Amino acid sequence: MLGESAPSFNANSTNGTFEFPKDFGNSWKILLSHPKDFTPVCTSEILQLAQMQSEFEELGVKLAIISTDKLESHFEWKQLMEDILIESGHSDHIEFPLIEDDNGRISNKYGMLHAWENPTQDVRGVFIINPQNEIKSINFYPMNIGRNMEEIKRVVVALQISEKDQVLIPVNWNEGDDVLMKYVPYSKQELAVNPDLENQYYKVGVNMWYKKQGVK
Ligand code: BEZ
Repeated sequence: MLGESAPSFNANSTNGTFEFPKDFGNSWKILLSHPKDFTPVCTSEILQLAQMQSEFEELGVKLAIISTDKLESHFEWKQLMEDILIESGHSDHIEFPLIEDDNGRISNKYGMLHAWENPTQDVRGVFIINPQNEIKSINFYPMNIGRNMEEIKRVVVALQISEKDQVLIPVNWNEGDDVLMKYVPYSKQELAVNPDLENQYYKVGVNMWYKKQGVK
C-alpha cells in the first residue's frame, strides 16, 4: 500500500545477489515486474528503459526488473537485448538488474501475480519507492499493453518536486509547469511587506493557488 515500507527480499539477479531495497541505499528505486522474458512487449519495455538509464540516474533513481523467469533465461534475454541495442546504434549496456523469481516468492509479496490474469506470470507492476524506502506510487498495467516509461519518469519528477517544495501537482502536469500550493501562500500583511508575492503566485477559482515555476 502507498506509504508502507517496501517489503524487503533477497534476490539473485543478473547483477549478483542483493537485499532489496536496503542494498540500493539512499536512492529512489523503481521495481518493475513483467510477465515473461523474450516476449515482444516486455522486450520493447526493457530496451526503452536501457535507453533511459542515464535519465533515471540523473534523477537519483535505481531500477530493478523482476519476473518469474529463471536467472539463466534473464542472462540470455539480456544478451539478446544488448545485441539489439548495439545493432540499432546504441552503445548502452543494461546496467539494472533482472531479478529471478521463478517460485513467485517476491512477486507474491508485492501482489504482482494476479491469478485471474495468469497465476504464474507477473502483470506489469510499477512500484516507485523513495529514499526512505516508502512506497510512493503503485501501478499495474495489463500484460498486453506496454508501459509509457516517460510517464513513469514524469511521476518520479512530480513526486520529487512535491516532496522537496511541499507543493501539489495538478492535472496533466509536465516538468516546468506551474504547481499548486497546499495552502493560501500569503496573507494581506505579508503582501504589504513583499508586493512581489503577487508575481509569484496566482489564484484560479476559489481555492486553486498556483506557484509559478521558474520564479523565485
Ligand atoms: C509480451 O510481452 O509481449 C506479452 C507478455 C505476456 C502476455 C502478452 C504479451
